[in-house]
Order: sequence, then C-alpha cells, then structure tokens
Amino acid sequence: MTEHRHDMTNTHLLVTEFDYVEPESLEAAVALLAERGEEAAVLAGGTYLLIQMKMERAAPRLLINVAHLPELAGVREEAGALHLGALTTIRDLRNAPLVQAHYTALAEACAAFGSTQIQLMGTLGGNLCNGSPASDTVPALLALDARLRLVGSGGRERELSVEEFLLAPGVVALSSGELLAEVHLPRPAPQTGSAFIKISRVAADLAKASAAAVIVREGDRVASCRLAYGSVGPVVARVREAEEALIGRSFSPELALEAGRIASEGITPIDDVRSTAWYRREVVRALTHDALLAAWERAGRADAEGAALPHALPRMRNLRAEGAGMQLDAAELRTVTLTVNGARQVLTVAPNELLINVLRERLQLTGTKYGCGIGECGACTVQLNGQPALACLVLTVAADGGEVVTVEGLQRPDGALHPLQEAFIEKNAFQCGYCTPGMLMMTQGLLAELPQPTEAEIRDYLKGNRCRCTGFASIVRAVHAAVDAGSE
Ligand SMILES: Cc1cc2nc3c(=O)[nH]c(=O)nc-3n(C[C@H](O)[C@H](O)[C@H](O)COP(=O)(O)OP(=O)(O)OC[C@H]3O[C@@H](n4cnc5c(N)ncnc54)[C@H](O)[C@@H]3O)c2cc1C
Ligand code: FES
Ligand code: FES
Repeated sequence: MTEHRHDMTNTHLLVTEFDYVEPESLEAAVALLAERGEEAAVLAGGTYLLIQMKMERAAPRLLINVAHLPELAGVREEAGALHLGALTTIRDLRNAPLVQAHYTALAEACAAFGSTQIQLMGTLGGNLCNGSPASDTVPALLALDARLRLVGSGGRERELSVEEFLLAPGVVALSSGELLAEVHLPRPAPQTGSAFIKISRVAADLAKASAAAVIVREGDRVASCRLAYGSVGPVVARVREAEEALIGRSFSPELALEAGRIASEGITPIDDVRSTAWYRREVVRALTHDALLAAWERAGRADAEGAALPHALPRMRNLRAEGAGMQLDAAELRTVTLTVNGARQVLTVAPNELLINVLRERLQLTGTKYGCGIGECGACTVQLNGQPALACLVLTVAADGGEVVTVEGLQRPDGALHPLQEAFIEKNAFQCGYCTPGMLMMTQGLLAELPQPTEAEIRDYLKGNRCRCTGFASIVRAVHAAVDAGSE
C-alpha cells in the first residue's frame, strides 16, 4: 500500500473543506474560538495558513476570518509606546517613516520579508502566531523588547513578552480561545540604534539565518544591548552571553567580532533544506558584527534622541473594509458579488473556492496564470481592492464585495492596449509570456506606490515574480519606458 504523504500534496484547488465565519466583533471571534477549540483556526492574511491547508499539513474544520475586525487593526500611541494591531501588514510597517526612524530593525525585517505580494497580504500577527523560527519580524520584535497583548473569551486579557510567547517550532503560548490582538513596542531610550540583517538563498525566501541588534549608547560605551536570532534554533532567541560581553564596554569592531564569536557558540542550528548548521554558525558571526556596527552608528546619530514618538501616527490599512457577519457551513454555497474588470459578477461559491479558480474557470479570465499555487511565483497576481494580491491565496468568500482587476482589465474600452502593455511589447519584456500578466499587474502596483522607481526599487518590488527564462533586464527597461510615457 502506498503511504499518503501529507506534506507533499499541492493541487490547483484547495480541497480541504471547512466552515467559514466572519465574526462581527472580537468578542464573537474569541467566543467561537473557545467553543470550537482545536478544530478552529484564525485566518488573517492567509499567506501561511492557506498554504498549510493546500499542502495538507493543516485541516481546520472552521476558519475564523478576522481580517476585517477594527479591534485588531491600526496603530496608536499609549504611554509613549507604539501599539500595532495584529492585522498590521508587513508592507505598511516597512513603509512607515515612524517605524523606519525609531524601530529600524523592524522596518529592515519587513523590507527583507518574502515578496512584495506577501508583504502586502501578510500580517504582523500571522508572522508571530505561526511560530516559525524563520519569521522575520520576530528577532526584531524580541530585540526591541516588544510585548504582546492576547485576548481571550469573556474579556480576559494578558500580556506576554516575545520570549514567553514562543514555546517550540510552530507552537506559541496562545491558549484555547485566545488570539493575538496587539504588539506593543516600548519607547526607545535616547541614543538607541537598531538593525536587522538576513541571509537567504534568493531575495524572496525565508532566512537561512537572521540577526537583530538593539544598542543603547553612552559616549563610547555600550549602555545596554539585546541580540536576537532567527532560523538558527528551534525558536527565535536571544544570546545573552553575547549581549553581556558588550554591556559596559567601549564599543569597537573587534568587540563586535568577539560578540559574534560568542553568539555563534550560543545558537543551536540544524541542517535543513535552506542551509547547514555549520554555515549558520559561521554566518552568525558576520551577521552579529554587521548588525552591531549598523546599530551602534545609528545610536550615535543626533536624531537617535528623538525618542518621543510623533503625534501623527502612520495610517495603516485594514485588510478588508467590508462589514462582517458571514457564517457558512462547509457544504453551504454563498452568493458573492465581485466587480471584475469593471463588470459586476454575482457568483455562487463554496467556502474553499479560491479566487484564481473563479477567475480562470468560471469567468474564463485565463490571463491570470496558475504557477506554483503556494504564493511563490507571482503568476497569479491580480489587483484586489486597489493593490496587488495573489489570487491563489485568496478565498473568494473573503473577497465578497471587492473589486478585482486582471490583466484583461488593463485594456482600454476602445480596445487599445494599456501603456504598460505597450512598453512591455516595445522592450521585449513579455519573454515567456506565461509570467507576463502577473508582472504587468505587479508593475501597476509598483507605479501606484513608487511613481518614479529606481532600478533597485523595480527589482525589489518585482522580486516575487519569478522569471526562469531570460531575466529582468528587459522588464526593468519596460517599466522605465512606461514611466517615461506617463503610465498610471
Ligand atoms: C512565498 C512566501 C514567502 C514568505 N516569506 C516569508 C519571509 O521572508 N519571512 C517571513 O517571516 N515569513 C514569510 N512567509 C510566511 C508568511 O507570509 C508570514 O508568516 C506572514 O506574516 C503570515 O501572516 P498572515 O497574516 O498571512 O498569516 P495567516 O496565514 O493568516 O496565519 C498564520 C498563522 O497565525 C494564526 N494567526 C494569524 N493571526 C492571528 C491572530 N491575530 N491571533 C491568533 N492567531 C493568528 C493563524 O491561525 C495561522 O496559524 C512567506 C510566505 C510565502 C507564501
Ligand atoms: S500561482 Fe499564485 S503565486 Fe504562484
Ligand atoms: S518571463 Fe516567464 S519565465 Fe521568464
């Protein structure tokens, strides 16, 4: 008899069946979590959970979509600390000037995070709650001494440190019926600097190893220091011996090297598909040295004293603006309304129908391509509510009421091609053709966010759209040509 490999299956469909609820409030969400216990799972951006389900590594009987709950969204300041809702997206954090200025390690972790699509869809809460030792925001949050506010049924609340939250690979300290509501970042002390560095196989990949450093300076001495590492042990962890070797001493590159040596002895890496234990130990020396130097230099800048947070807090997007209250059994069909390429579409779908399947198979919009099905290639990128999204990782029920634009929607009503399409043709950027629709949809997102992108920004923004045939040179030329032609 052939053994069924539960970690190898990936079809173009999401075959797992589940009940689906969009609770009306946080209170309702935690009550439902408590009632259904282990068989329920919280859905935020879905960039981790839906892949686990597609690969048959997880099969929750109920998905509780919290993506629209205002209690989990937004950012506020309280008693000088920054309070980030669990739904804050990685992209919003990366782009927030406040985070870049005062919590640089976190901004750098978000910039190094997966692809642009994953940054736009993935949330801070999802990154913490999946419990992965490779989660990029976590070393930064641990080094920055973040606290986590958990909410349970009956209004129960508790606060944990990141260290207390991380129990084992994939296991975090959420009790039954509890979810993560907020991440609190304390006000940085004067003369604080921080940095995060990650090494990965390719740009849009999980870390082989990562390091975050936070230093408080007092003249030429290290007044305090926290060092945290990702992908080099069962959970993201500090190496206190390395921190202690720095505290109270005069800072120098040699001291940073010494701390790196101690850190490489304090971690517990393994060999796996992304790297070897030997390499991880070696690279942690360099990561520690480089992160410490960057953090030290930043702590010495005049504006490192600007610890008081500005009153104008960044506006963070909620993942979904629509109202809630949807409740479906696994076998129940739901009528949803989507505006697709300007036309209203009324569709009857099951909870597990993915947007990519609806677009391609029901609406015959086959320009949206199926590549990997697990968020890695970018071929299925569409615009959802005005920003790029991976259609292979969107439940159609969760997109109800939304606006979708596919590559077919780029064409002008008179049949003329969009200037972006013209530029791709003019510069021979269509290459294999299969990936082009996703690249066009991404380029539209790029120009909306960065109207005059540099080559580095183009390459970074498009890093989640894989090309194995020709490379990105013509694509970069096409984007520049589109900018010159005044494309929007
Ligand atoms: C191609 C690709 C590249 C990636 N690259 C990176 C990378 O470079 N770095 C990295 O760190 N990660 C990466 N990831 C992993 C993933 O995108 C991130 O972990 C992301 O932050 C998860 O957020 P989400 O909102 O999508 O989580 P979801 O998939 O919605 O949820 C993840 C888990 O957390 C739980 N959960 C979510 N929110 C809450 C909450 N508020 N309270 C309680 N439980 C909750 C869910 O039940 C689930 O178990 C990548 C994923 C893909 C597909
Ligand atoms: S098919 Fe969606 S990212 Fe590859
Ligand atoms: S554009 Fe498709 S593989 Fe290069």
